[in-house]
Amino acid sequence: MLNTLSPLAKDLAGQSYPHPHYFQTQHRILSVIDSYLAVEKLQERLQDLPIQFDNPQPRPWKLINWQAINRNQIIGIDAEIFLTILIGAMDTEAPIRGYTQTSRQYLEKLHPQMARFVGGTIDEDDELLELGLWEKEERQHTPALIKVYNQLTGEKIIPKLRTVRGYLPSDDPNEDLYRHGLHRVATEYGATCLYLWLMAHTTGALQDVLEELVQDEINHLTKFWGFGVWAFPDTSLMRIGRTLIKTRSHNYQRNNLLRTLRRMMNTLNWTSWTLSNKTTLMFTFIYAMRRLWVWNNSLTPEYLQDLFGISSLSSLI
Ligand SMILES: [Fe+2]
Ligand SMILES: [Fe+2]
Repeated sequence: MLNTLSPLAKDLAGQSYPHPHYFQTQHRILSVIDSYLAVEKLQERLQDLPIQFDNPQPRPWKLINWQAINRNQIIGIDAEIFLTILIGAMDTEAPIRGYTQTSRQYLEKLHPQMARFVGGTIDEDDELLELGLWEKEERQHTPALIKVYNQLTGEKIIPKLRTVRGYLPSDDPNEDLYRHGLHRVATEYGATCLYLWLMAHTTGALQDVLEELVQDEINHLTKFWGFGVWAFPDTSLMRIGRTLIKTRSHNYQRNNLLRTLRRMMNTLNWTSWTLSNKTTLMFTFIYAMRRLWVWNNSLTPEYLQDLFGISSLSSLI
């Protein structure tokens, strides 16, 4: 009892407890969301995008003491479940090359600068000349998760390489980009919430790794989201919902968010989670969305035009 009541120390998620109860965990989640999804930080990440168009520079990671990572740094999640979550995250992160090249193709003609940001540039023979910034930052994630796994178990692990849904254009490139972009935003949001939740359940060097992952995901989330609002300003919530949930035509059949979610929950071994784990993850999704929504409301057409100019995409749909 004494242990539960007296905090161990402070870490990146506030007070840390060896055996936190539900509300203590909840408190840690709120604390990470408050600091990493603060509106000023989200604004800063989006304002960075036009700078990255001109001069792409990967966000540097802080120094991590990999050797110090150990199982005692997992708090409030069964270690075995934590490991299955790591494997699920690895399998979702890889293979980044497939993801970046698909996104580049959807953007190529409509917005060459954003296409370069996500997927780099290619020559006439489709050979990659330069990596996109998104890829440079994301490709560190799977190796980082592998290192964490090795450190926690002493075992080597090779992530499953899933086949990526490739470029499937219809006769409406704008609608294609809209649909594709929305799913990218949803994936970055999912990764952001998962890593924030994991940050609240870890401490020490293990938490340091998750902090870097989460900062990359937030960086991409804000850039994709902000770019999307700029490019497609007249999107209603109805349309967003419809696009994410409905399977419209043969081409889009596999591009359904509910299927993706179900697959993710399976890879994360959701059924073996405790009730508290499930509830706090749901809470993270809801609370993070509320914070993002506050920021979203600050994305006025004038502000976005200052950043990116006048969008020629929206007039086409
Ligand atoms: Fe990632
Ligand atoms: Fe990501």
